[in-house]
Amino acid sequence: MPRLAYVNGRYCPHGAAAVHIEDRGYQFADGVYEVVPVAKGAVVDEDPHLDRLERSLDEQRIDMPMSRAALKLVSRELMRRNCLSNGFLYMQVTRGVAPRDHKFPKAAKPALVMTSRQLKAPTAQTLADGVGVITVPNIRWKRCDIKSVSLLPNVLGKQKAVEAGAYEAWMIDPEGYITEGTSTNAWIVTQDNELVTRNASSAILNGITRVRLLKLAEVQGIVFKERPFTVDEARGAREAFITSSTNFVMPVTRIDGEPVANGHPGLLTCELREVYESFVQDAKVSA
Ligand code: PDD
Repeated sequence: MPRLAYVNGRYCPHGAAAVHIEDRGYQFADGVYEVVPVAKGAVVDEDPHLDRLERSLDEQRIDMPMSRAALKLVSRELMRRNCLSNGFLYMQVTRGVAPRDHKFPKAAKPALVMTSRQLKAPTAQTLADGVGVITVPNIRWKRCDIKSVSLLPNVLGKQKAVEAGAYEAWMIDPEGYITEGTSTNAWIVTQDNELVTRNASSAILNGITRVRLLKLAEVQGIVFKERPFTVDEARGAREAFITSSTNFVMPVTRIDGEPVANGHPGLLTCELREVYESFVQDAKVSA
């Protein structure tokens, strides 16, 4: 079965899908994106993802390429044509095609690309081992709340992590506080058993998984605090983990090569992963 992509009104073979060389996303990173998880054929937290897409577009002063209802129809059609069961939808909207010039073009139409990818669940061994993170300076711009396709600092950070044998890089602000991972939000459980993740602000992307997990934690009666935390606090934490649409809840067991606590995934982390997994399995409502 050929894999298809949606590009500006057409479904075309993934390998042949292309945009114009003067697309402003290509020339200026003048665009935004979303990664929306799909589990058992159902779209997870679709409206929160589309709310964030609309917000990112609004902040960047780009129009929605089509109505939300139409976006949902394209998503469904792409999922159907690609037989997507578990994985994610990728949506990218740029300001469109125009002769290269920094200022907004008068006539460009927003360009929409949508792809999908099947993903395997992490192995039991990966979940039992957890993953390692390294720390890197946060060299990003001041509007990390916008899900911009401008991801060079994130790309450089992730590559550094991979070259260090780690899975993710946590980015540290000039005051020594962790902002987030290059493509994930960062969490710890402190020595006082406090579940902590950085508060939403322009310093981080407010992850949809992050927001959902906070809601689920609340329902479970798990106390949490949204506040910045330092690298030292993370190194001395009882537990650490990351969240994202593609990782769900992933235990972090090493920071800069040193074990977090006893080097095994923490109890609360495992509980939160289970809670999130059950939420995802019930996500059929949005199919
Ligand atoms: N990344 N922080 C950053 C910088 C991210 O890029 C992401 C998502 C997150 C987590 O957000 P969410 O829970 O909504 O997935 C936090 C996606 C998965 C990516 O770029 O591939």
